[in-house]
Amino acid sequence: MSNILEQLRALKARRNAVILAHNYQTGDIQDVADYVGDSLGLAFKAKETSADVILFAGVHFMAETAKIVNPAKRVVIPTLEAGCSLADSCNATDLAKWKAAHPGVVIVAYINCTAAVKAQVDIICTSGNAVKVVNSIPRDKQILFCPDENLGQWVMEQTGCKMILWPGVCHVHVKFTAESLAKLRAAHPDVKVVAHPECLPIVRSMADEVCSTEKMLAYCKASPSKAFIIVTESGMLHRLKKELPDKQFFAGPTDTCSCNECEYMKKNTLANCVAALETLSPEITLPEDIRRRALVPIERMMALGR
Ligand code: 13P
Ligand code: SF4
Repeated sequence: MSNILEQLRALKARRNAVILAHNYQTGDIQDVADYVGDSLGLAFKAKETSADVILFAGVHFMAETAKIVNPAKRVVIPTLEAGCSLADSCNATDLAKWKAAHPGVVIVAYINCTAAVKAQVDIICTSGNAVKVVNSIPRDKQILFCPDENLGQWVMEQTGCKMILWPGVCHVHVKFTAESLAKLRAAHPDVKVVAHPECLPIVRSMADEVCSTEKMLAYCKASPSKAFIIVTESGMLHRLKKELPDKQFFAGPTDTCSCNECEYMKKNTLANCVAALETLSPEITLPEDIRRRALVPIERMMALGR
């Protein structure tokens, strides 16, 4: 292990690279990263970096976003297998057809979508700023929210704004059930429940707080509570336990397991991080017209602040 870490650190220095890691990465990757955060924080870090190379330890749409906002950098991802089934659920051709049939509708896309989808929409949001983004749109506008219907539904509840929802879900977050959560909570009556907005409405309704992965850390830090059930991908537990060692964290359960993992996020390993920095591949490249068009809705989001 120390050998591979030494290799990674040496390559990072040789390539003048920065390692950006999502909160769902395995603990060993989080520990070696220069920055660990949610999709929003990672997009800002990617834009701000002065490194020559960005090793993006996350999933493909996140690395694409880094390339869109900072095209002068070489962006590499540990493996192209790190995709996202939610992003795949919104095909660019299908969205173009929908858009042509619904002129005048404002399209808000969750950042979990491809660059080709981003290139067609009006504004991007993340789970960390979706409410702020929707509130920035005049109330008389009809909005399509894509591709996550659970996040979209939660935003509707928070804003009172009725939107058309694209029928996509995150297969990881919809596996958490009310029954399994109720059982775990009954065993630990003093815990606070913190859930990601991609969870089903019934699960969200049981939560004390619904927020993005980064805000989970802030919530648990500020809360006087000493124990929490974290209803999101299990990588989040590493960050919480590391930064808040005096508090106790339980993974949100599904009906079949005591925590849930995103198999795409978990395709990244220290070994393929080393290989990516060694070979500078797989590299994220985009047709320039798509990149430019995709940048517009991302910049609109970024202009609203963190
Ligand atoms: P966050 O932006 O809250 O980190 O979520 C990203 C994601 O992919 C959730 O499944
Ligand atoms: Fe995509 Fe869900 Fe994995 Fe997040 S947890 S990257 S939304 S499949």
